[in-house]
Parts: sequence; C-alpha cells; structure tokens
Amino acid sequence: MLDIKNLVVKVDNKIVVNNLNLHIGNSETHILMGKNGSGKSSLLNTIIKNPKYLIESGSIIFDGCDLSDKSVCDIARMGIFLSFQNSPAIAGLSVSVLLKNSVNSVREANQQKPLTAPEYFKLLDEYCEILSVPKDWMKRQVNLGFSGGEKKKLSMLEMLFLQPKLALLDEPDSGVDVDAVNIIAKAIDYLKIKGTSFLIVSHYPKLIFLSHPNFVHVMKDGNVIQTGDITLAEQIEQKGFTDE
Ligand SMILES: Nc1ncnc2c1ncn2[C@@H]1O[C@H](COP(=O)(O)OP(=O)(O)OP(=O)(O)O)[C@@H](O)[C@H]1O
Ligand SMILES: [Mg+2]
Repeated sequence: MLDIKNLVVKVDNKIVVNNLNLHIGNSETHILMGKNGSGKSSLLNTIIKNPKYLIESGSIIFDGCDLSDKSVCDIARMGIFLSFQNSPAIAGLSVSVLLKNSVNSVREANQQKPLTAPEYFKLLDEYCEILSVPKDWMKRQVNLGFSGGEKKKLSMLEMLFLQPKLALLDEPDSGVDVDAVNIIAKAIDYLKIKGTSFLIVSHYPKLIFLSHPNFVHVMKDGNVIQTGDITLAEQIEQKGFTDE
C-alpha cells in the first residue's frame, strides 16, 4: 500500500527525514516511536504533502501511485488521513460543515454520490456513540475552545467519517484521559475491521498495546533505526531508547 524509498526531506533548509525506507502493507498497523525531535511528525507531514516539507530525493508510492506531484487535496482524496499532533482551530467553520464537505469530496473523487441527509445523520449517530461525542459539537467551530482531549476525539470523528485506506495518527493519545484512550482504540479497531492501515505515532504503552501493531519502528535523526514487533515497544517502555 505505502512504499517509501530512500526518502530525504528538508524543512527550512534542515534535513528532518534522512534516507528513510518504510513499507506498510494492506490492513497493517505500524507504530512509530522515537525521541522528541527524531522526525516522526515530519515524516507524516511529508506523506500528506504538507508544502512546508520539501522532498529532496527518494520516493513515496501509495497504491502504485507516485505522490511526488500530488497536492495535499489529492492525497486526502486518494484515501490518506492525518490526525495532527496539534490540530489547528478553524474559526468560522462548523464541525458539521467540515465533516459533510470533507466526506463528500472524498466520495466524489471515488465516483460515489454525496451522502444524503438521512445517511449523514445515521453515521453521525453511530460514530458519536462509538466516541462518546455530544451532538452539540456539530454546531461548534472546528477545534475552537476544544480541550486537548476533545480535539483528539474530534479528529477521530473525522477519521471515522472519511474511512481512509491509510490513517496517519500523530500522538492521538497525548493529553487524553484513560477512558478516552480506550475510546480511541475502539475507533482504530472499527476501521481495522474495514481494512484501514495505520501508522501511529505514540509515546505511551496503553494505546500501543491496544492497537495490536504488526510492526513497531524507532526513528532517530530522521531515519528508522530499529523495526520489530510489540516486544520492541515493551523493551523501550522498560529501558528507554537504548540506541546510544
Ligand atoms: N520549520 C522548522 N525549522 C527548523 N527545524 C524544524 C522545523 N520543523 C521541524 N524542525 C525540526 O525537525 C526535527 C524533527 O521534528 P519533528 O516535529 O518531526 O519531531 P518529532 O519526532 O515529531 O518530535 P515529538 O516527539 O516531540 O513530536 C526537530 O529537531 C525540529 O526542531
Ligand atoms: Mg511530533
């Protein structure tokens, strides 16, 4: 599904991803760990083609398609979703307009009709229940005045609506209470059953274990320096990063 080869990325003239290789197969869950500043968020932002992150060399292939000349909108329409480490507030844009418009533009790209109002409300009921999200959020402006944990839940709501082929989750569990971590794990499970692949950045064992990853990677200085299974996350939890 996703094949990254020899990727080198610069931001503001600094190399943030350095000769990185990564393969994510269909329906696989990968955890990305690493010290602060090791390049995890930079990698995720590069995959969604955030224009600040300039690809110097190497390639990112998604479902057989080279992403080098794609825009962030193309990437979203192709079925890649990013939940930001720090989600921005968007004054003037209501949550319901964001959800309807984003899901319908992805559906349009896939030659599907827009959701009808009853279809939208049925999904909304289902997803709000999974996430324990109150419906009055729909009238609020995106992330404006939302607490840290509420922002994370809102991005999970977007993810459920979009049903991406590949979900990139940048610390979905940071600043989130213990019940909300369970809820986020439930949302991940819901999409796993539908075949979504995940690349999840996390520093915390609870979500790492609940997401039952196929692979755990460790980044350092912009590169993946270790890959293993869940036992690698257990070692890091007990001993810290022992690479130096
Ligand atoms: N615009 C920028 N200008 C200069 N340096 C930058 C810029 N953006 C990112 N960096 C640097 O790139 C490195 C990687 O940052 P990144 O945010 O990818 O780390 P991270 O692994 O996600 O860390 P954390 O665990 O703290 O979220 C850091 O040293 C950061 O300071
Ligand atoms: Mg980060």
